[in-house]
Amino acid sequence: MVKKVGIIGAGTMGSGIAQVAATAGCAVKLFDLNDAALDKAKVSLEKILNRLIEKGRIDSEEKNRIQGNIEYVKRLDALAASDLTIEAIVENLDVKKKVFHELEGYVSENCIIASNTSSLSIASIAASLKHPSRCVGIHFFNPAPLMRLVEVIPAIQTSEKIKSITQETIESWGKIVALAKDTPGFIVNRVARPFYGEALRIYEEGGADFATIDQAMKSQGGFRMGPFELMDFIGNDVNYTVTETVFKEFYYDPRYRPSFTQKRLSEAGYLGRKSGKGYYEYGEGVEKPIPNDDSNLATSIFERVLIMLINEAADALFLNIASAKDIDNAMTKGVNYPKGLLAWADEKGIDWCVNELDRMYDVYHEDRYRCSPILRKMKSKNQTFF
Ligand code: NAI
Repeated sequence: MVKKVGIIGAGTMGSGIAQVAATAGCAVKLFDLNDAALDKAKVSLEKILNRLIEKGRIDSEEKNRIQGNIEYVKRLDALAASDLTIEAIVENLDVKKKVFHELEGYVSENCIIASNTSSLSIASIAASLKHPSRCVGIHFFNPAPLMRLVEVIPAIQTSEKIKSITQETIESWGKIVALAKDTPGFIVNRVARPFYGEALRIYEEGGADFATIDQAMKSQGGFRMGPFELMDFIGNDVNYTVTETVFKEFYYDPRYRPSFTQKRLSEAGYLGRKSGKGYYEYGEGVEKPIPNDDSNLATSIFERVLIMLINEAADALFLNIASAKDIDNAMTKGVNYPKGLLAWADEKGIDWCVNELDRMYDVYHEDRYRCSPILRKMKSKNQTFF
């Protein structure tokens, strides 16, 4: 049973993960090199818990219990008695390796050592340990206390026992676990690429402007945010880097090719909401552009992005990255998609999926639009995903 949890890095993710573990009743030690980060994490938790009291979700006793479960520590050796440690520091393999090396000198052999990395391979992190079989990826989504999904990623070195204890622990924290293979982007950051990439492609071809594409995805697809609104929200620098990393890690598979439009925005400092300008302007009193209300155009935009998302989800299943259920859970619980993509494929019909992809391939003759073999096979056998 995991009772004592050590968290390394008290930034956005580490402080959120600390809240989740403390709420679930674990004794948490939250460590950061930077004192200001620890102070900020403490103040921010106080605010979050006060808001939960205002909303009637918790009472002050519960607030005290959660706060009492977190100790803010300034030394890594304070994590020595942990059953599980989760690292959420800067996304740099060399820095992470150094921290793990030091950590392994303090903790017992039974301690699970996990990383919240979004883009590094768990195998490369595990390789820095004396006991690599205890290493696992535990990938939370931002904000960690609100997003139900956690991807659990065993490396090729990870033992079955560590994998199952990790899964049970994270589920006992009230989260939905999707087990993912140790491949670039795991599930969510891989399957979601076409939401941005195909939207950018439509724009670059002059198919529609940002507002029209965003509106189409919301009105026809039920997405909470359109792709350009979401990229502005995430930050064009951050979103571009994820795309570029996935592209490189997949040995430059054209399906993941980044877009110059986004690269230029990022280079110009048009990062989105945080810089006041991205695809849209965010100044005081600035009016949002009006989308084109042609419903045929909206349908074709939505269907083009959807089919690319479905193809990516189907291909992830084809390559055994995760189960069909976990792929669908990942997208609905990790990034709030209105439906699982494989369930959506069933609803639209596998025939429709294959025909749409083949139609696009006929137009472009680009590898980007190749239909996943699993869809073609399912079509010939008249199968569905669920
Ligand atoms: P952040 O920049 O908000 O926080 C990182 C914290 O780590 C900082 O407080 C920093 O002082 C501390 N730190 C840096 N080096 C350290 C060291 N050697 N020892 C102890 N503390 C150290 O970063 P964020 O966004 O929380 O990301 C952390 C990790 O989580 C990264 O690996 C990132 O890829 C991953 N991640 C981030 C998500 C996001 O949406 N921000 C989502 C999922 C994963």
